[in-house]
Amino acid sequence: MIKKQTNTSHRPDTVLTHAGLHPRDYHGFVNPPVVHASTVLYPDMDTMKSRGQRYSYGRHGTPTVEALEEALTELEGAAGTRLAPSGLAAIALALQSCLSKGDHLLVSDSVYGPNRNFCERVLPRWGVEVSYYAPLDLDALKAAFKPNTRAVFTEAPGTATFEMQDIPAICKIARAHDALVLMDNTWATPLYFKPIEHGVDLSIQAGTKYIVGHSDAMLGTISASERAFEDLARMYSDTGTCVGPDDVYLALRGLRTMGVRLERHEKNALEVAGWLRERADVTSVLYPALPGAPGHDVWKRDFTGACGLFAFELEQADDEAAKAFFNALELFGLGYSWGGFESLATWPDPKEARSATAWEGHGPLVRVHIGLEDPADQIADLERGFAAFHAAKG
Ligand SMILES: Cc1ncc(COP(=O)(O)O)c(C=O)c1O
Repeated sequence: MIKKQTNTSHRPDTVLTHAGLHPRDYHGFVNPPVVHASTVLYPDMDTMKSRGQRYSYGRHGTPTVEALEEALTELEGAAGTRLAPSGLAAIALALQSCLSKGDHLLVSDSVYGPNRNFCERVLPRWGVEVSYYAPLDLDALKAAFKPNTRAVFTEAPGTATFEMQDIPAICKIARAHDALVLMDNTWATPLYFKPIEHGVDLSIQAGTKYIVGHSDAMLGTISASERAFEDLARMYSDTGTCVGPDDVYLALRGLRTMGVRLERHEKNALEVAGWLRERADVTSVLYPALPGAPGHDVWKRDFTGACGLFAFELEQADDEAAKAFFNALELFGLGYSWGGFESLATWPDPKEARSATAWEGHGPLVRVHIGLEDPADQIADLERGFAAFHAAKG
């Protein structure tokens, strides 16, 4: 497929507002049509045999799909973008695009759990060797390279425990070994961190989160550097990956307001995180955007903003007290996702999926997504949780 011309002179908010739109192609309508299509007709057999027209078949691209791919390619500063039906499918496709039998993959110990499932259950069946590295230990990472290490998977900050990986340093190490770097950048989105500019080859988004932004569709995106794009595009095509037009459209619509939504998520999250930090019954707040929090210096150096997702540790307590905290919440929904308009809470257990780092001796971990409600109401809801926690603790 032809690579689109991108406009690199515009600032990120302007790109978010206009990228991928071609109103003159659609009678002046601002948005592209939502094309529901499998069959595409050709005018004659020569055109059909040579596939000599822009669109050939629903799975190979439509104006709706291309509008989102083009917008993300511009936003990410990528050679090209492909869409997947979920964030996890995007992770799996990116890994498949760059790994072959006999390769070795290094994965950060702090990645999203289902990503680890794919690496543990699927890749070994295809003859790919996988090992895990401590997310913050660059010396251990260097030592973990083998002659057949083909790729390094990163996520910053890490799922549940929010370790801020030093992505530029990891990319430098990987380059020295001629290995590719993949990054799950869902937390920052390409608005607040541009992986490809920092040396990443495959930049992944669970578009389900902030791009869609309204908790009503599943989608994944992979944007690739020059050296990774051809293999990505081939694997996308060979695996028959495609996304339904309505979900693509919801992502395109969400993208236009992602900047203003993220700004509010960050403002609210900073207020709630600052309030939590002052509490005696909270032993740590894991929000890299909060001054003094773990990873703040790396965040400040490399990122231009933060989203509304972070975690905090309650003081030591038994499971019943922790459950009482969650069950008392009225505004924060108990839900696994994030990136939508609403506040959510979960109780992750990092001990369940660690092999290179330990997570011992900590109190119950609360992961919150700070939504767009008024932070005073969010804090009042968390107060309810703390009151129930202490009542249950006795
Ligand atoms: C960091 C991260 N990456 C990827 C995913 C997967 O996205 P999806 O649920 O769209 O498959 C999630 C989902 O929670 C996530 O938190």
